[in-house]
Amino acid sequence: MRLIVKYKRSFHLFKSMLKFIRHNPRKIIFEKGSLELVGREAARFGRRSLIVCGRTFARKYGFLSKLEKTLSSEGLEVYIFDKVEPNPSLETVESGSKLVKANNIDVIVAFGGGSALDAAKGISLLGVKEGSIRDYLYPYIVEEDTIPLIAIPTTCGTGSEVTKYAVLTDTQLRRKCVLVGPGIVPLVSILDPVVLEVLPPNLTAYTSFDALSHAIEAYLSKLSTPISDLFSVESVKIITNHMIGGYKGSLEDKTWLFYASHLAGLAINIAGTIMVHGLGYYLTTHHNIHHGLANAMLLPYAIEFNTPVAEEKIVNLAEALGVSSGDPLEDARRLINIILKLRKDVGIPLKLSDLGVREDELELMVSIAMKYERNLKNNPRAVSASDVRDIYKKALRGAI
Ligand SMILES: [Fe+2]
Repeated sequence: MRLIVKYKRSFHLFKSMLKFIRHNPRKIIFEKGSLELVGREAARFGRRSLIVCGRTFARKYGFLSKLEKTLSSEGLEVYIFDKVEPNPSLETVESGSKLVKANNIDVIVAFGGGSALDAAKGISLLGVKEGSIRDYLYPYIVEEDTIPLIAIPTTCGTGSEVTKYAVLTDTQLRRKCVLVGPGIVPLVSILDPVVLEVLPPNLTAYTSFDALSHAIEAYLSKLSTPISDLFSVESVKIITNHMIGGYKGSLEDKTWLFYASHLAGLAINIAGTIMVHGLGYYLTTHHNIHHGLANAMLLPYAIEFNTPVAEEKIVNLAEALGVSSGDPLEDARRLINIILKLRKDVGIPLKLSDLGVREDELELMVSIAMKYERNLKNNPRAVSASDVRDIYKKALRGAI
């Protein structure tokens, strides 16, 4: 068994490295206290800045005034758009972009979780475009330059500071939609672990599960490469080791989770996400379940479902975590058990029904999940409506 696995591994490496395209990341600063550098970084792009953030977090904990101070100390004019809601809507992006155009903004500073960063990506795009943000949703690919964007993440989950994706919500259709393309990758990312001091335990856990999901989904994705696998495996190792400490409030553990979420962002930037995100979006758009929590509920089922076509990868991941038996089915079970234990330890329920999702929604859930083709087509094993129904059914009952 070991010999076969090793042979397959080297073949995979050879095959995948014959040809690949990879966009290099932009400037990334990971340092305690680096929030103070925002003004200096922003000043490289012009004199008129716009801070994009949510309604409460940045103001409540004094970060907004800190950002205003560092920007004005470098001579920048500061405008503020603090209206980004969780799961930001297309309308929010459109109203933010009006502010950009009305004030000839030179640089956008996005501060917050995935919602603030993704909304800011849309605002930076529409700031240089005419029409509606709907005109630029995927399958449109954003190749062009947008308003320069500095991204400052404040959770352990999104990875959005280094990705070419912005996930938005079409509130009329109750559906997630996405902007995709190298043009919306932030030019500068500033990761200051100090912002995590005030991140509460439940959000630390949910966003860490989003990152864990990114890492494992990218690892299993059809688009994975040896490079994305490096990011994925390292990220999984770190998250599984530090999630509980971060949940209990240790800033050192949170700092590791922050780093791991960044690695997972680099992984999905190459390989994308698969069925976990595709099936999870319904839970957010129809039940307001936190995006990371939705992924946590579905991740074990995706591992179980994909193991038959990803045996080598499952064994290699279990090996990296030091739990491999050499048998893919047993190793998948061990990986799933690690995830179930983490979920339990951070207070995540076993069943979707515990989160208010009902069996009588099943057909609606399936039909909506099947529309997230972009995620499903990356899945290593073909996913039919009947597969999705089975997975949701199991998840509703906690059958894993
Ligand atoms: Fe995500």
